[in-house]
Amino acid sequence: MQTVRKAVFPVAGMGTRFLPATKASPKEMLPIVDKPLIQYAVEEAIAAGITELIFITGRTKRAIADHFDKAFELEVELEQRGKTQVLAELRNMLPPEISCIYIRQGEALGLGHAVQCAQPAVNGEPFAVILADDLIDAEKPVMKQMTELYSYHQNSIIGVQNIAREETGSYGIVSPQPLSDKLYRVASIVEKPKPEAAPSTLGVVGRYILTPRIFHHLAHIERGSGGELQLTDAIAALLKEQQVLAYEFAGTRYDCGAKIGYLQATVEYALKHPQVKDEFYAYIQQRFCR
Ligand code: UTP
Repeated sequence: MQTVRKAVFPVAGMGTRFLPATKASPKEMLPIVDKPLIQYAVEEAIAAGITELIFITGRTKRAIADHFDKAFELEVELEQRGKTQVLAELRNMLPPEISCIYIRQGEALGLGHAVQCAQPAVNGEPFAVILADDLIDAEKPVMKQMTELYSYHQNSIIGVQNIAREETGSYGIVSPQPLSDKLYRVASIVEKPKPEAAPSTLGVVGRYILTPRIFHHLAHIERGSGGELQLTDAIAALLKEQQVLAYEFAGTRYDCGAKIGYLQATVEYALKHPQVKDEFYAYIQQRFCR
């Protein structure tokens, strides 16, 4: 029986919806209150028992690598100023058993291509893919929910969510055959269908566990929706030879690749943040609830 030890974080997208903020830094470095999106994603992976983090970086690669590297001078300075709590937080960001690999996606040819770049590091194992711009607030971290399912089923699993029918054009949409509560066998999957052509309203969001056979299909797909190499198209080919499951995860997802989702996440996380929640709540009350 195989376990999921590796996670791929594609962080090489153009982030055009957040320009100019994403001109010199990837959108995955945008903070929600005081932590960048990528750190929430990494914490989710670690909580699921993943120990190898594979970042697929683009032209703004340094920001991500610097974020997870030891910042020697900063640590010395914090120590001298007696900022022990924040220093401990920085030092504990990555536990010692976690390793990081950075792979460059030379050109942003699409999510499928970004995942394909991870093949040498994945090296024939099942692996997770986490899109950090899909921030999911959940009691049990979503990737943990999914690795538990994987231990039992040993099949590729994709995270899905019920979305409004008029939004199908923004998602990969699955045609589901119910297996058990919240779990489906994927009969087919299609990228960004028009509402009237969508086989359901179960949309794929940024959590996947994939068997390594996906690389065979990634190597053979052609440019799809938006002229990009789509992971969805490789999954569509994969499910013709292996069972692929769709899991309607428990949790609230914020689409932080879009301004409105990012702002909603910021408000919700601020209202839970121990340092600012009371003051922020008072501000919201005073500003909007007169
Ligand atoms: P998006 O579809 O959100 O695209 O990517 P984008 O380019 O990042 O953002 P916009 O649409 O221009 O604003 C989904 C995920 O796939 C990664 C992104 O970083 C994001 O996590 N991605 C996308 C890559 O790593 N490489 C690519 O070529 C495309």
